[in-house]
Formats: sequence, structure tokens, C-alpha cells
Amino acid sequence: MKIFIDTANIKEIREAVEMGIIDGVTTNPTLLAKESQPAIQILREICSIVSGPVSAEVVTLDTEGMIKEAEELAKIAKNIVIKIPLTKNGLKAVRILADRRIKTNVTLCFSPAQALLVAKAGADYVSPFIGRLDDSSHRGMDLISDIKRIYQNYGFKTQIIVASVRNPLHVVDAAKIGADIATVPFAVIEQLVKHPLTDIGIQRFFEDYKKIPVR
Ligand code: E4P
Repeated sequence: MKIFIDTANIKEIREAVEMGIIDGVTTNPTLLAKESQPAIQILREICSIVSGPVSAEVVTLDTEGMIKEAEELAKIAKNIVIKIPLTKNGLKAVRILADRRIKTNVTLCFSPAQALLVAKAGADYVSPFIGRLDDSSHRGMDLISDIKRIYQNYGFKTQIIVASVRNPLHVVDAAKIGADIATVPFAVIEQLVKHPLTDIGIQRFFEDYKKIPVR
């Protein structure tokens, strides 16, 4: 399973990249709003650090506006993927962008029916938001299994990005199901690394090493 980092924070991206585990980046307007630089500048810098796909979201709601925005965002770098909201206009934009060979990631997916349409429209990626489903008393991970099954049944090429990840179990469950990608906030990446027995083990080896006679 590929791991993307779900942030617009350059420091977090650099550190995760140094760990050698990052295949791509997802951003959204909320994440970009947390940073102090202009969005385009941040996206350009992210693309200079990460060679894999970097998702940048459109903020217009009509198809024509989305296409215009997408074409501008696509000029930032070759690895930009256009994030499009899952609406009727969004699906129309996906079709047009696919024909123009501009990659798309359809975001805010909350049902298998929506995911089916995303694949039919020709999107490169679909982003089901599992954490937000869990928050509203629905099992987010069930949505991932359903989409995986539907896509396998018909050989759809659209890749599943497990999004709205809130904890390490979300990542492990996504990998068990066989999702293509999980996009993970930096704090959850740090949780994934940690295990108390690892820390205790390091401490014990360290203490025991000090007992070894020098010669
Ligand atoms: C995905 O692409 C989104 O940026 C993100 O996962 C949304 O997560 P949230 O529900 O924590 O805002």
C-alpha cells in the first residue's frame, strides 16, 4: 500500500520524506489555510520535495470554473493531481480533464454508489473519507471494502485513497483490505512508528551495554 501524507505543512512533509515512507501528498483548502504562505507557493514547494502525486483542490462549483482552475493548478508541476468534489459538475469536470490527460482525485466520497460513478467518469483516484463516517456512527472501513469489491468486479483502474484517517488502526485496516493508498496526517505517522516495547527494549539494551567491561 502506498502512503501519502495528508498535510500542507512543509516541515512535516520534509520529515516524512526523510523517513523514506512517502509516496505522495494530499492537501485541501482547510490544510492550506493553516499555513502562512500563499497556496500556489506552498504547492510549488511541495512538488519540489515530492516526486509522487500531489493533490490540489479546486474551489469553484461549476464545471467550467473547475476546468479553468484545474488547468492553472496543473501548470504548477507535472505531479499535480486535481482534487474535484463529488458532485454532478465535478463528475463532468473529471470526464473533460481525463480526456485532456489531467489527473484527478475525486474527494468527499461517502458511499459505494458515488465511488462507482467516480470510476465510470474516469478519475485516477477516489478519496473515501472514513474518519468522518466513523464520526457520524457509520463504519468508514466498510466503505473501503465495498469500493474495493466493486472496482475489482469490473477492473476499474481508479485507485482508492483512504482519506480522513484518524488513527493507526485505520491505516492497518486499509492495508488488510488492500486499498491502493492511505493518506495519513503527520501525527498518525508518528503514532505508527511508536511502540512502547520498542522504547523499553532500546532502554534495556542501552543500560546493559554500559555494563560490558571496556576490555
Ligand atoms: C483527504 O484528501 C483530505 O484532505 C483529508 O483526509 C480530510 O480529513 P479530515 O476528515 O480529517 O478533515
